[in-house]
Amino acid sequence: MSVDPIVILAVVLVAIAVVAYFVFASFAFGAGYQPTPRRSVEAMLRLAEVGPNDTVYDLGAGTGAIVFRAARVYRAHVLGVEVEPIRFLILKLRRAMGPFPDRVELRWGNFFALDFRPATVVTAFLWPGAMERLRPKFEAELPRGARVVSHCHEIVGWRAQAYDPETDVYLYRRPSTAAPSTVTSGDD
Ligand SMILES: C[S@@+](CC[C@H](N)C(=O)[O-])C[C@H]1O[C@@H](n2cnc3c(N)ncnc32)[C@H](O)[C@@H]1O
Repeated sequence: MSVDPIVILAVVLVAIAVVAYFVFASFAFGAGYQPTPRRSVEAMLRLAEVGPNDTVYDLGAGTGAIVFRAARVYRAHVLGVEVEPIRFLILKLRRAMGPFPDRVELRWGNFFALDFRPATVVTAFLWPGAMERLRPKFEAELPRGARVVSHCHEIVGWRAQAYDPETDVYLYRRPSTAAPSTVTSGDD
């Protein structure tokens, strides 16, 4: 039985459209999709000294490279925020299958609308423009001593406490000169 070439062409075009959507859909929000390499994930969580008492916010959680590692290996509570619906669905599936669903909270939406006050650690692999827009939010909302680890891009205007050139990971602490607003409620 031969397949109509039109059908093959349609299938190929649909596949290309799905992949293009998956990769490019979130460009408008601050970063396209690229999973954080395993070595960089490890460096981010290690440099930030993530542990069971931490609440880690992964901004743009993708398909969960940081989220699930932080919860499973470092025993942290993790909030993964992702704007792109297909990746968010993948995150939900991974959480359902994973061994520690209670440590992983997922939110579908824009991280610029998030309240950062409960976070003790923020992880980010975003574009420079997004880091620039996030800086005033970090300064206004993150608690004293909160760590921010960024793969690839600096926070311009902050001095990195450490930089790992092997994995291109920057570690920051919220500067003490920036006073956070008081926590008055949960972030739900
Ligand atoms: C470079 S990927 C990082 C993936 C992930 N952190 C990881 O560890 O593999 C950036 C992700 O951020 C998401 N994103 C971009 N802007 C966003 C926004 N404003 N709010 C929520 N997610 C966003 C994108 O959809 C993409 O999945």
